[in-house]
Amino acid sequence: TETGSLSIVVLGASGDLAKKKTFPALFNLYRQGFLLPDEVCIFGYARSKLTDDELRNRLHGYLVPSKDFSPEQLEEVSKFLHLIKYVSGSYDSEDSFCNLDKEISEHELLKNSTEGSSRRLFYLALPPSVYPSVCKMIKTCCMNKSDLGGWTRIVVEKPFGKDLESAEQLSTQIGQLFEEPQIYRIDHYLGKELVQNMLVLRFANRLFMPLWNRDNIANVQIVFRENFGTEGRGGYFDQYGIIRDIIQNHLLQVFCLVAMEKPVSLKPEHIRDEKLKVLESVLPIKDDEVVLGQYEGYKDDPTVPDNSNTPTFATVILRVHNERWEGVPFILKAGKALNSRKADIRVQFKDVPGDIFKCQKQGRNEFVIRLQPSEAMYMKLTVKKPGLEMETVQSELDLSYRQRYQAVTIPEAYERLILDSIRGDQQHFVRRDELKASWEIFTPLLHRIDKGEFKSTPYQPGTRGPVEADKLLLEKAGYVQTHG
Ligand code: BG6
Repeated sequence: TETGSLSIVVLGASGDLAKKKTFPALFNLYRQGFLLPDEVCIFGYARSKLTDDELRNRLHGYLVPSKDFSPEQLEEVSKFLHLIKYVSGSYDSEDSFCNLDKEISEHELLKNSTEGSSRRLFYLALPPSVYPSVCKMIKTCCMNKSDLGGWTRIVVEKPFGKDLESAEQLSTQIGQLFEEPQIYRIDHYLGKELVQNMLVLRFANRLFMPLWNRDNIANVQIVFRENFGTEGRGGYFDQYGIIRDIIQNHLLQVFCLVAMEKPVSLKPEHIRDEKLKVLESVLPIKDDEVVLGQYEGYKDDPTVPDNSNTPTFATVILRVHNERWEGVPFILKAGKALNSRKADIRVQFKDVPGDIFKCQKQGRNEFVIRLQPSEAMYMKLTVKKPGLEMETVQSELDLSYRQRYQAVTIPEAYERLILDSIRGDQQHFVRRDELKASWEIFTPLLHRIDKGEFKSTPYQPGTRGPVEADKLLLEKAGYVQTHG
């Protein structure tokens, strides 16, 4: 474990992401004793002129989500808020960043009066357009200068560019200033409990090893649904669309963990090497294996242009060209304003050869990993219907996390990832070459959508999305609807 002062700088402190995710995650880490008050100072940085107390008051409501907080909990909130200082400045001025550096150094002096290194974490809760200038300013003014060691790290959020070219440009700009081990690219799906469980499930269970391949698996679906629309984010969303917002990052990262080969060890680089390989084995996406949709009412948002073709729904089939997966469709599906809020991985197995029960009409074995809400895993099996007759029925082997692990609170994705970035563990962060490979897969399709060559089919909010997507599953992915 490292000692010395820890300074966490949240840039974009008054923005939505910081208020809703970053600060609450820091608070939860603090409550659990991971951020010890005698070493940490949290700096909120943004352009608006605020006092420390004004920022603290703004954050208070996000840390106390319910009225039932006990006096002890409120006391904790107030102690935490007093670890936060506010520094105002612009994102491209050396003066502002030198001033920030001065504030950090003062805190370090106070904490390191005897000895200790200095650790500086810069969390960019900012639009990517300012990443290059902010990184440059950090590099020029705010690097750790302690003789006793320590580090400077930056955490960046998506969107990392809009396509292969812009992402590579951004990577190069940041890469000229920081080494890869200093850069933490967050994809918060990698912080989710059941996503992290994927490696354990696949590589610590003998049961799955012989089955996890083209001989046994018919298709895999990775599905994200939200039952609300773009809600005030229309202006941002319209520039990106559902593929950039969810599929190219979150679902593709989940895909990697489902499809990759076994890593040599759990070392972050070994894991990321395997993720990269499977991304590089994905074949070009075919036109007739894509369905796009846009919910009716999306364009009512005044910040969305009337003629927008931006998809709020997409189903895309990925094909992996390797020995394990040749011929197995991976269906990535995401949509806003659908009938439910749910994210899951569904692995559908092939039919039983030489079936003597004629049970195929009831369905196939399916293994479902529910990422959210209510984390769970269940396996659809055919069993004998209890009773005197020899009949079969679809049933489930079920592991619900809420029931099984009642005493455990499942940590928020951001909590875990921020802790990893402090500990220096990059396993659950996206490496530059992975990012590049992800953009390579989707860029040709995205460019054609941007040019209007692919149309989004309208769908009613609150439904399953365009019916064409269900047809695609049946016709191109050999998906068999299971009952029971
Ligand atoms: C974000 C997207 O990255 O993920 C949002 O920009 C989306 O559009 C969100 O709502 C979903 O995250 P979660 O953790 O609620 O599934």
